[in-house]
Amino acid sequence: MRVISTVSEFQSALDQARLSKTVGLVPTMGYLHDGHASLIVRAHSENDFVAVTVFVNPLQFGVSEDFSTYPRDLDRDVELARQAGADVVFAPTINEMYPDYPEALPTKVSVSKLSEVLDGKSRPGHFDGVATVVAKLFAMAGRVSAYFGEKDFQQLAIINQMAADLSFPVKVIGCKTVRETDGLAASSRNVRLSEDDRQAALILYKALQLGKGLIESGENNSITVARAMESLIKCEARAELDYATCVDPKTLLVPDVIRNDVQLLVAAKFSNVRLIDNVKANFSEPNTRAGSGFQNNNVVKADSLRLERG
Ligand code: PAJ
Repeated sequence: MRVISTVSEFQSALDQARLSKTVGLVPTMGYLHDGHASLIVRAHSENDFVAVTVFVNPLQFGVSEDFSTYPRDLDRDVELARQAGADVVFAPTINEMYPDYPEALPTKVSVSKLSEVLDGKSRPGHFDGVATVVAKLFAMAGRVSAYFGEKDFQQLAIINQMAADLSFPVKVIGCKTVRETDGLAASSRNVRLSEDDRQAALILYKALQLGKGLIESGENNSITVARAMESLIKCEARAELDYATCVDPKTLLVPDVIRNDVQLLVAAKFSNVRLIDNVKANFSEPNTRAGSGFQNNNVVKADSLRLERG
């Protein structure tokens, strides 16, 4: 497996591979974990040649965010990528990607609407940074299948939109979220959690399961579901809640009444480590649901749940 650091080597490696092979691309910010590995394994199973990119992209971090403390370990990443089936790791320096850095890049890619909600509200500019760097990687890579995690659900939606709108010859493929055995979504930021915060962070997955249970047993009021998830997360004193919500998976907007499958998303900080997670909830009309005589969509009322602190 080769490790390369210049744009021109990356372009020629992929052009060369494409002469006889299909190419899979897995963009990452490094500090690889099982979630990243699952994308590389999938790319390897569906392509003849796999390129992994490792680049902590400064454009997608706000001024008070964790760019400087974001965990980094290229040697470890290279080894993990190799084991998972990568053929090349592209790990450029910041100046290779942005020659005039730290001067602002005059060009940016911005995906309106989808970037204006959820994390886009809490992290202004974040998704412009993501869309810009992914557009650069797509432009360098050419015709590839590119693998992204559903763990970053909003990011995946934005990249899908961008690839379609700008006609990149890239097939964007979403991959299932990989979790630790206790349910916490794998994340490079998990290593920065103290033991107490690591335990406390489980509340995110619990809240998603609560919301999913409500919807799948007939609750069709998105505000009721959101409030139930919020109340549960607020029971965890170590969690600083950002949002807990229920949205249409295509528009990322909150539906008045849930009539189709929805995506439940949560975000919270634990001692300044910001974590996000999401799950899909399947909604079916009462008469198509298992168990007969189910007439009332609002059978499980969140305010009937007694959620005490502690
Ligand atoms: P990063 O956080 O390193 O994630 C790289 C890819 O791994 C993303 O597609 C992300 O959704 C996926 N991923 C992360 N945790 C996962 C998990 N638990 N299960 C499955 N997939 C998971 O996302 C980024 O980097 C950057 O924003 C990037 C797209 C590389 C642009 O800089």
